[in-house]
Amino acid sequence: MAARETGPVGVAVVGAGYWGPNLVRNFQGSASFRLHWMCDLDVDRARRALGRYSTVEAADDYARVLADPRVEAVAIATPAATHRDLAMAALEAGKHVLVEKPLAADYAAGLEVVEEAERRGLILMCDHTYCYTPAVSYIRSLIASGELGDVHYLDSVRINLGLVQPDVDVLWDLAPHDLSILDFVLPRGVRPVSVAAHGADPIGAGRACVGYLTLTLSDGAIAHFHVNWLSPTKVRTTMIGGSKRTLVWDDLNPAQRITVFDRGVDLIPSEQLNEQVRREIQVNYRSGDMVAPALGQREALGAMVEAFAAAIRTGTPPPTDGRAGLRVVDILEAASRSLEQGGAAVALKEIEAHRAGVAVKGTAS
Ligand SMILES: NC(=O)c1ccc[n+]([C@@H]2O[C@H](COP(=O)([O-])OP(=O)(O)OC[C@H]3O[C@@H](n4cnc5c(N)ncnc54)[C@H](O)[C@@H]3O)[C@@H](O)[C@H]2O)c1
Repeated sequence: MAARETGPVGVAVVGAGYWGPNLVRNFQGSASFRLHWMCDLDVDRARRALGRYSTVEAADDYARVLADPRVEAVAIATPAATHRDLAMAALEAGKHVLVEKPLAADYAAGLEVVEEAERRGLILMCDHTYCYTPAVSYIRSLIASGELGDVHYLDSVRINLGLVQPDVDVLWDLAPHDLSILDFVLPRGVRPVSVAAHGADPIGAGRACVGYLTLTLSDGAIAHFHVNWLSPTKVRTTMIGGSKRTLVWDDLNPAQRITVFDRGVDLIPSEQLNEQVRREIQVNYRSGDMVAPALGQREALGAMVEAFAAAIRTGTPPPTDGRAGLRVVDILEAASRSLEQGGAAVALKEIEAHRAGVAVKGTAS
């Protein structure tokens, strides 16, 4: 086996639209990378994204970028429908790949890319940006440490006046953020098993602009997501209710993004109640402390690109690998089917495969 490379990872970014320039800025700001190319079908847009004095090369010819031996890794920030072909070409050229969310436009395409990367021993990462925020890191460790107790429910609202996308509905545009966070923070062994989706297109855009997802988890817990492009106010809140504590994350409140409440409702074991009381009350309201933890300040995208470099240099899967991207696409695809079926609960492929005894690597059992 060839010795692992050391030093900065040579990288190319594909897609100079809204998001690609953010990747460019973070690769250029990192000592772990050397950016060699910015590629876009519109080469002038690629040049503009680099700026007038950049020495990074701009191209509209992807094959030329892939033929450059300095390029070890490719970051793909193009529309979802193009992710499969661009990622497969990069993997076939022996490059590590970072793909923007969602990993692919459907489950079959995502699975193909994941399996190709695994076959070739290359790193495949999905940019689930929120997983690299201090808030989500904190939530994940709070759940893993058991301090929240068993997760009973998760309720999330992500609404604002958003750009009505030409190619995807609001579920595919906004819900990947929440679904990737759910995937990242759930304890090992707890997985979504089915999804029911409802949507509305009140402005006649041709696709759902308001969407609601309800997921059933493998331990019986419930997760609900509201995403909306038509809301005049911006809301980004998530509540996670546990058997011991409840956490509220308000991402628009930088002074107090997370609050952990030792308040809740406990069921009193009925053997502790006399007959009279048993008929009247069986719950006990807890009213304890409220804690707002100090969270670090860091740009999530900066942490994400460092995780990509670490995965490449150590040969270990990044925290949000291709399998994590695939689990999110699985839920989105099932949600689209549920929308077509008027909100019926649709089982997830990853869980079906797991139940059938098929090895689904990366899916916690
Ligand atoms: N992680 C995040 O928070 C985040 C935020 C916004 C967008 N995104 C994701 O980033 C991706 C791009 O979104 P966007 O809003 O920047 O899109 P965009 O439409 O603004 O830009 C896409 C760019 O890709 C180029 N392009 C399309 N096909 C190409 C091809 N085959 N080869 C080379 N260039 C090609 C287009 O010319 C365009 O410049 C999407 O997957 C989106 O979901 C992620």
